Amino acid sequence: MTPRIVVTRKLADPAMAALREAGDLWSPEPDRTLTTDELHAAVAGADAVVSTLQDRIDGAVADAAGPQLKVVSTVAVGYDNIDVPALHERGIVVTHTPGVLTDATADLAFGLLLSVTRRLGEGERLIRERRPWEFHLAFLLGTGLQGKTLGIVGLGEIGVAMARRARAFGMEIVYTGRPGGRRADPAVEHELDARFLSLEELLRTSDAVSLHCPLTPQTRHLIDAEALATMKPTAYLINTSRGPVVDEAALAEALRRGALAGAGLDVFEKEPEVHPALLELDNVALAPHLGSATTETRTAMAELAARNAVAVLRGDTPPTPVRS
Ligand code: GLV
Ligand code: GLV
Repeated sequence: MTPRIVVTRKLADPAMAALREAGDLWSPEPDRTLTTDELHAAVAGADAVVSTLQDRIDGAVADAAGPQLKVVSTVAVGYDNIDVPALHERGIVVTHTPGVLTDATADLAFGLLLSVTRRLGEGERLIRERRPWEFHLAFLLGTGLQGKTLGIVGLGEIGVAMARRARAFGMEIVYTGRPGGRRADPAVEHELDARFLSLEELLRTSDAVSLHCPLTPQTRHLIDAEALATMKPTAYLINTSRGPVVDEAALAEALRRGALAGAGLDVFEKEPEVHPALLELDNVALAPHLGSATTETRTAMAELAARNAVAVLRGDTPPTPVRS
């Protein structure tokens, strides 16, 4: 029987073509995030579901699909929106797209660090609001990165790519594993000249902290009021991982009080909502979840997600499964 393949959002053309070749392909029209009811109706009878991080995929979705469902392939590296144990219990393979978005995400994280430390958003707002300005020696002074210490929370692939960029800008690297995470490979430590610290020491000594850990029960609000109070008042926080890793209200309060110099945020606790207090602050660089948003990367993610789904439908091992 021809397998039924459901994609919850349209993918780049080459991925759609690969899926069309492998089965009967359904995608939403118009292209928008499905409600829970629409998702349940759409997946009925599906052998493969290719989803994105907006879709909550749990046991109920699997049951709405039916016992023939073999694979859920998410077009993302993070899979906190998927109840992996519930799917694995039902014998469903879960796959994600690590690797192909590493550079794009690290580029964006470093871009946010530059944006907030060099006050690019403030400068742009000033010009666009047609406020008067002229070059002078003390105008919109930012903070240099050379010789400063970048603390990386979660030295996985994206953390390493961020650290490489920071090294090229003359920064020193310290890192900590996510809770339960392991120390990096000695070769990676050596290449980056990176020092392993406890989270507390890292927060205490870093001039900028960049979050590269997945969202798990252990990392939810990892950066809370206490963690923020541990950071230097001159330090910056960069988050391109998942919003709930940071207590946004506590962050806004720390920034407002001057307990932290600034933040660069690509992800938010209640996405797409942004805590209103953050919008009042000039020392926050904001981006609407653009970490992997380049044409090249989104195409590669879609192609990998399609390869994962097709491999499982054919009875092969997918390239990038999520393990239990
Ligand atoms: C994006 O946030 C991803 O997890 O791929
Ligand atoms: C700045 O524009 C300079 O010329 O120093």
